[in-house]
Amino acid sequence: MMSNPSVLVLYGSQTGTAQDTAQRIARQAQRRQLQVQVLPLDNYNVANLISESLVVFVCATAGQGDPPDNMKNFWKFVFRKSLPVGSLSRLDCAILGLGDSSYPKFNFVAKKLHKRLLQLGASVLLPVGLADDQHDLGSDAVIDPWLTSFWEKVFALYPSMANVIPLREDEPLPPTYTFHFLDGVKEKTDDRLRIPMEQTVPSQSHPFPARLVSSQRVTDMSHFQDVRHKEFDISGSNIEFAAGDVVMMHPCNTPEDVQQFCQLLRLDPEASLTLRPTDNTAVPARLPQPCTVRHLVESYLDIAAVPRRSFFELLSSFATNDVEQEKLLEFSSAAGQDELHSYCNRPRRTALEVLADFPHTTAELNADYLLDLFPEIQPRSFSIASSLQAHPHRLQILVAVVRYKTKLYKPRRGLCSTWLASLDPAQGEVYVPLWVKKGSLKFPKEKDPPVIMVGPGTGVAPFRSALQERIAEGKNNNVLFFGCRSESKDFYFRSEWEEIMKTGYLTLFTAFSRDQEEKVYVQDRVRENAELLWDLIANRRACFYIAGNAKEMPTSVCDALKEVFQKEGSMSAKDAEQMLATMERTGRFQSETWS
Ligand code: 2AM
Repeated sequence: MMSNPSVLVLYGSQTGTAQDTAQRIARQAQRRQLQVQVLPLDNYNVANLISESLVVFVCATAGQGDPPDNMKNFWKFVFRKSLPVGSLSRLDCAILGLGDSSYPKFNFVAKKLHKRLLQLGASVLLPVGLADDQHDLGSDAVIDPWLTSFWEKVFALYPSMANVIPLREDEPLPPTYTFHFLDGVKEKTDDRLRIPMEQTVPSQSHPFPARLVSSQRVTDMSHFQDVRHKEFDISGSNIEFAAGDVVMMHPCNTPEDVQQFCQLLRLDPEASLTLRPTDNTAVPARLPQPCTVRHLVESYLDIAAVPRRSFFELLSSFATNDVEQEKLLEFSSAAGQDELHSYCNRPRRTALEVLADFPHTTAELNADYLLDLFPEIQPRSFSIASSLQAHPHRLQILVAVVRYKTKLYKPRRGLCSTWLASLDPAQGEVYVPLWVKKGSLKFPKEKDPPVIMVGPGTGVAPFRSALQERIAEGKNNNVLFFGCRSESKDFYFRSEWEEIMKTGYLTLFTAFSRDQEEKVYVQDRVRENAELLWDLIANRRACFYIAGNAKEMPTSVCDALKEVFQKEGSMSAKDAEQMLATMERTGRFQSETWS
């Protein structure tokens, strides 16, 4: 009889959701008394796949159908032509995709991986799970039934598992780390704030502490939105970037949130501690050992995010107060997901606010579980808004400070933008550990093709970088469509554009949506300039770019562009569609959108 399998859960995660899901699957495996290992795909030696028995792949799809950063090497490897067909014929696996149907290539990575694994001979136990972040109840509506079906298949495949009695859901598994508090020991300096001596290029594991040089508000004080233009000094960093690249950084929690958190959990923020793994998990490289409770909470634990169901599952196991326990168990159950959605997701309630709502349970929490309870703060990315040719040793970004109301009394704030806005170089030197990665937008190397760029709001950031780069390289024929609400309130970089226009390097079209009765958007300006655009695209092989908010804007701009093709090129709707598809395939149409 076949013995029980050991389960390997491999994930590719960009924002942490796939990682959380992978960990949830691992906990389910542990409760079924199976040996389990969870790893980001790029931390796994892929050559070993041929000898694995049961693997679950949990893969997110990033922005434009790309694999997340921590599975990029795996992705290259698995699609190598030299891999023999049938090389994974001993492998049983399952693939769960996490995606967002508001993006065009919904769950592209999971679907493509599924095809490839079949090609390589793996047995795929059940259809790919296609979880959708746009779904009203979050991805759980797909993930829960998918997991039930997965375990049924595993039980059918390994009859010996019929004898396994799963551990009860309300008993916590051992924590991943135990905390060792150290009396009178000071925190080790955070290595991330040390300038690396070696000639390495900064990366997530070795970020560069860049000095914040300036932080300017670029919207009028009377405007509802605070948008900041931030400049960092990257001298001596070895950082290089081109237009279209993005900068990454880890935000921190606010001092108020850290203080409230420590009070609720009765933790001394100044206490020093070291983490000891209870199994073979490594200590997070981002945490100096020893570190203070303050450092751990401020820069590592994501207490300001909306908590996931797994948070309630674990929290409920500490509840001794009947009323709190009942509620927490409801939020942990499949039947309570509607209720949890109304309580947490819809009003965007933070994990810290939840702790405050369950004070008895929070006071009972065992600190050892903090890293199991809270996910790690994930890095955030910003399109770089400057060029090294125009601003040597400098890196600039454009940040819209996210703040909005829900039914909760306190306004909701974006963690990273609020943190960045709070950093003020006028009040002393501030360093932000950062690194740069390639973005999806690529601009032509040759002088010839004109570029047409559509970037409303902060979507203009990569195009400012491109424009600066192209001017430095003497590349003319730059057309920019910029949209904002009002000419007097949020038309940022106005004087800069005007200066460039005087040199003849820029043709600018603006759409001020709220300066008149009827809304005017960038897509309206695209339609109005059909003749010019058609000439640039059809006769001069121009490249067309869109950047900005992922709601309806990109689709509306594409529709406008197809109308331009139909009208000026006298073609059918189908041919226009075809033409845009060809432009996309050949890199002449590119978009980078974010939510
Ligand atoms: P609005 O807020 O007045 O609707 C930058 O945010 C600009 O993009 C604003 O002028 C905003 O207009 C506009 N915008 C909002 N939705 C859009 C859409 N679907 N298409 C194009 N522009 C849009």
